Amino acid sequence: MTEQTLSIIKPDAVERNLEKEIKDFFIKNNLKIADSKKVKISKEEAEEFYKVHQTKPFYNDLCNYLSSGAIVVIILEGENAILKNRELMGATDPIKANDGSLRKMYGLSIDKNSVHGSDSLENATSEIKFFFK
Ligand code: CMP
Repeated sequence: MTEQTLSIIKPDAVERNLEKEIKDFFIKNNLKIADSKKVKISKEEAEEFYKVHQTKPFYNDLCNYLSSGAIVVIILEGENAILKNRELMGATDPIKANDGSLRKMYGLSIDKNSVHGSDSLENATSEIKFFFK
């Protein structure tokens, strides 16, 4: 099934000029960039975006981090795009991510793990709407 999902290139990867490499990786793996823009969000917007994590101990640091610098938000489109993007990203913690995955290649730590991707159809729809109203 053709799906759309949201990918975010996080501040650590934007700072290291990895936008083109990461986008090329998606394209090489048959995900199309349907839309993309570079933005900087406020702490309040990060809190809203990550509200599913609001009870977690890392929530405050996470929101500070996502709002600390420019990010690139991308609508990825393709066959089973949600699951495929999650496979291409690898595990949340770069140490545990599979060889060849984005987080293994570029992630610096569980916080600075270079990319975010929607984890379900419901979240993909709401996360895309959040950035592309
Ligand atoms: P992301 O896929 O963007 O979703 C939530 C983020 O919280 C996650 O990537 C990590 O960067 C960050 N995070 C920090 N600590 C943890 C943790 N212990 N478990 C899961 N995610 C964490």
